[in-house]
Amino acid sequence: MQNINWEALGFDAYTTKTLIQARCIDGKWQPITETDNFSFTLDPFACMMHYAISCFEGLKVFRQKDGKVAIFRPDENAKRLKRTADFLGLPAPDEAKFFDMCERCVKANLEYLPPYGHDASMYLRPLLIGTKPKMQLTPPNEVLFTIMCAPVGSYYGGKMRSIPAVIPLNYDRAAPHGSGGYKVAANYAGTFKPYQIAHDQGYTELLFLNSQTHEFIDEFGSSNFFGIKGDKYVTPLSDSVLPSITNKTLQQVAEDFGMTVERRAVPYQELSEFEGVAACGTAVVLLPVSRIDMKPVLEEPAVSHHFEYCKDAEVNPTIKKLYDRIIDIQFGNVEDTHGWCHIVEGI
Ligand code: PLP
Ligand code: COI
Repeated sequence: MQNINWEALGFDAYTTKTLIQARCIDGKWQPITETDNFSFTLDPFACMMHYAISCFEGLKVFRQKDGKVAIFRPDENAKRLKRTADFLGLPAPDEAKFFDMCERCVKANLEYLPPYGHDASMYLRPLLIGTKPKMQLTPPNEVLFTIMCAPVGSYYGGKMRSIPAVIPLNYDRAAPHGSGGYKVAANYAGTFKPYQIAHDQGYTELLFLNSQTHEFIDEFGSSNFFGIKGDKYVTPLSDSVLPSITNKTLQQVAEDFGMTVERRAVPYQELSEFEGVAACGTAVVLLPVSRIDMKPVLEEPAVSHHFEYCKDAEVNPTIKKLYDRIIDIQFGNVEDTHGWCHIVEGI
């Protein structure tokens, strides 16, 4: 067992023991390999570097209360990777290969799986990249699919608390009819700088509106959006939003609690009507929002709209209840009635 302070884990890149890899050349998948070499050798013309032919997934593995090891909803990640790969014109591993490689990654790096009782898990990061050197703008016939992992705690560090967010109107996340609904690397590139500016101003998250008209809420830079209004769970329906597996899970949990789920266009003015608002995703899990400022220009001081939900230290009770249930299912504290936990056998 590694000498890791499980309580102090944040959400960071990590060099564990083993990477799992498979190449697809001319449409034919090569055998899966395991390596302890954490460096890639790529041709300088590899299209992933010049043209962002790169996509990825993110899913978590939990050491459960009874000692079993569970991967949370990997079938959904396998399906989403295929969808994203199709968008980029890349071959994707089928579900059996995806599962096999995830399980191998868990088993080979088991000493990095946080024990039960630490609010920590193992994050799996499957990555699919075009390795073919090329100048032409057509799909590559050589790709590398690799799965790496990291022991992780909370994405923004510390215990659950509410965070401030900003809507930066001079930055859009995704073009209309563009790549917003797919987990392509390029979607994230444009958020690094505004995240830094927002963090320097004391905001934790960026919330993006639909690019075409700036009338409706799309999602956060790292995660989906939902709002709570009485017994309603409201979340945007938009082609430019990544279909979040956490959001899908929370919608079911909300229904299990007797709440009504509304998936529809959410005008930003409705931000004043929600009792609670949160970000949700694999990395952030569920991040309640204390307040949202809308800024015409992120770099400038003017705030055109301000929405307030709670103090930074507080958490809306419905959001806390949703959070507790999803965590309890993942760690096996309650029965997994929907069959979301894929148990890794032979550990
Ligand atoms: N939206 C964006 C932009 C994301 O990067 C993520 C993270 O994967 C999500 C939403 C949440 O998706 P999921 O719950 O499947 O992790
Ligand atoms: C995830 O939640 O899995 C993501 O990929 C989001 C990323 C910003 C860490």
